[in-house]
Amino acid sequence: MKVFLTGGTGAIGRHLVPKLVEAGHEVSALARSPEKADGLQRQGATPVQVSLFDAEALAAAFAGHDAVINLATAIPSTARYAFRRAWRANDRIRTEGSTAVAEAARSAGVGRLIQESVVFLYPDRGDEWIDETVEPDVFPILEANLVAERNTREFGEQHGAGVVLRFGLFYGPGSSHSDEMLSFARKRFGVQLGRPGAYQPAIHLEDAASAVVAALDVPSGTYNVCDDEPLTAREFTDAIAAAVGRRPWLRGPGRLTSLGGRNTAALTRSQRVSNRRFRQTASWSPRYPDARAGWAAVVAAG
Ligand SMILES: NC(=O)c1ccc[n+]([C@@H]2O[C@H](COP(=O)([O-])OP(=O)(O)OC[C@H]3O[C@@H](n4cnc5c(N)ncnc54)[C@H](OP(=O)(O)O)[C@@H]3O)[C@@H](O)[C@H]2O)c1
Repeated sequence: MKVFLTGGTGAIGRHLVPKLVEAGHEVSALARSPEKADGLQRQGATPVQVSLFDAEALAAAFAGHDAVINLATAIPSTARYAFRRAWRANDRIRTEGSTAVAEAARSAGVGRLIQESVVFLYPDRGDEWIDETVEPDVFPILEANLVAERNTREFGEQHGAGVVLRFGLFYGPGSSHSDEMLSFARKRFGVQLGRPGAYQPAIHLEDAASAVVAALDVPSGTYNVCDDEPLTAREFTDAIAAAVGRRPWLRGPGRLTSLGGRNTAALTRSQRVSNRRFRQTASWSPRYPDARAGWAAVVAAG
């Protein structure tokens, strides 16, 4: 397939480009600077300099491609996460950007649009499993995701295949938040968000990338992409601690995370999210069934 990728230089993108190339796809990818273009080229992709917000220029860039994968994001750093204004760039990418991408894919006659989203949209369901039939909650920092999802669904209804992938919390090499957690764990501080028993859906970046490759071959729909067994917040912290071989002396911010109000609610809810629909539909299963296995692999890889 000829695939056009945005966000190819980001956390998943860097894992995804080599996998797409290895699977025999021809990859073009949006590059925002000459340095990023060089990196993409070294991975076997053709870099294309085009604005994510210019539907006409995007349509020209998408012409001749079978699929467009939109992984562009701008998530604030952990320190700025609770500030609403820190989300503006991401909001613009998920609203204006996703609208331009979907419009361009339509006018270029692309057959498939794959859009990144997040499982953090779901409400708190305690110990109950959550699948794609559970209605997302609406809260400020994630509202823009719903626009991106809607654009993709409309594309699927009116044009080709529209696939929304709701990812769990990324961890692994290249995820800045997970690098921070690892560095704290080495200093015996366990980053634990929310109450200890709240489930936190996660996904190793390698598995997130292999899921995107598998999504080139699934029917239109919304799919949760997380590992098989979400751990609780406490278990997740313990998994990192076990991987680095250091028991935490301190854990936090725990329940205090809720002081960020609706802006941090996405990280403190209990979301025991099931990947069953995607596992059954796609020829995909995560290499790391839970974060214990995944974190051990991250640390072993150095
Ligand atoms: N589900 C999750 O848990 C989740 C989801 C997303 C991010 N994160 C975390 O958040 C950290 C920072 O995230 P991030 O959002 O910066 O994601 P990222 O995945 O590291 O990078 C985002 C991608 O989008 C591109 N991009 C950003 N703004 C753009 C724009 N205006 N036009 C076109 N492309 C644009 C970036 O290009 P450039 O390389 O040119 O900047 C990059 O390729 C990540 O390391 C990861 O740990 C977690």
